[in-house]
Amino acid sequence: MLETFPGPITAFVQGSSRGIGLSLVRRLLDCDRVDRIIAGARNPRASDALMELAESNPQRLRPVALDVTRPEQIEALATTLGEENVRPGLVLNVAGLLHDGADLAPEKRLEDLSADRLQRVFAVNVLGPALVMRHLLPLMRGQDKAVFAALSARVGSIGDNRLGGWYAYRSSKAALNQMLHTASIEARRRFSNVIIAALHPGTTDTGLSRPFQANVPDGKLFSPDFVADRLLQVIDGLEGKDSGGFFAWDGQAIPW
Ligand SMILES: NC(=O)c1ccc[n+]([C@@H]2O[C@H](COP(=O)([O-])OP(=O)(O)OC[C@H]3O[C@@H](n4cnc5c(N)ncnc54)[C@H](OP(=O)(O)O)[C@@H]3O)[C@@H](O)[C@H]2O)c1
Repeated sequence: MLETFPGPITAFVQGSSRGIGLSLVRRLLDCDRVDRIIAGARNPRASDALMELAESNPQRLRPVALDVTRPEQIEALATTLGEENVRPGLVLNVAGLLHDGADLAPEKRLEDLSADRLQRVFAVNVLGPALVMRHLLPLMRGQDKAVFAALSARVGSIGDNRLGGWYAYRSSKAALNQMLHTASIEARRRFSNVIIAALHPGTTDTGLSRPFQANVPDGKLFSPDFVADRLLQVIDGLEGKDSGGFFAWDGQAIPW
C-alpha cells in the first residue's frame, strides 16, 4: 500500500474523529510506509476511538485539535508543522457536513434554503478544505510524489445531477471540486510534485449517510474500513496527469 510514494510518509488526516476519517487513520497505521500520522479533529479527546489509537501508537499517531471553520487554527497548525520541519506527503481532508441531526438537514425544496444553513455547510465543506490547502500545500513541496485529496461527493457533480434537492451539500461539493481543480493548475507551476484530487467514497455507513440509507440498493452501502482501503488504493495509483481530477472509490473518473 502507498508503494508509489518514495520513502517514509507523514500523513495528515483532517476529520479523524469518526466515520471514514477514523478508518483512514486505522488503515494508515497498518501501512509500513507511513511513519507518522497527524490526525486533526475538532475535539480529539471527545473521540474515544481516536484516543485509543493514539495511546497504542504513541510514536506514530499525533492527534491535533483543528476546527476547519476556524481559519486561525488552520494557520497556527501549519506554522507549527513548518517550524517542526514536518513535510506531509499525504494530506486528506475528510471533514464534511451534510446534516447535524437537529435543524440542519438537506433541503428538499427552495423554501428550505436558509442563509445560516448554507453558510454552515459551506464553512465546513468549502472554506475549510480550501484554507487547509492554502496553508499545507507549501509544506508538501519537494521532489517526491505527494497527494492532497479532499473527500467530495458524486452529488456535487453538476453533470450527474438528475434528482435535484440537497442544495447546500451539492453546491458546496461542486465548489470544493472547483477549488481543488483550480489549485491543481497553480500547483503544476509551484508544487509540481503534489497531485490534487477530489474523491468520492461511495455511500458509506457513517453518521453522515445514516438517515438516508433506506433506499440504498443491496451491496451498495460500504463499510468505512472498505472505503478507506479503496481510497488509499486510488491515491496510490494517482499520477501527475490525474491532478485536478474527480475520482470515485473504484478509480473511475466522475464528470464535473
Ligand atoms: N458517508 C457517505 O456516504 C459519504 C458519501 C459521499 C461523500 N462523503 C464525504 O466523505 C467525508 C467523510 O464523511 P463521513 O461519512 O465519514 O462523515 P461523518 O461520519 O459524519 O464524519 C464527519 C467528520 O467531519 C468532521 N467535522 C465536521 N465538522 C467539522 C469541523 N468544523 N471541523 C473539523 N471537523 C469537522 C467530524 O468531526 P466531529 O466528530 O468533530 O463532528 C467528523 O470527523 C465527508 O466530506 C462527506 O461529505 C461521505
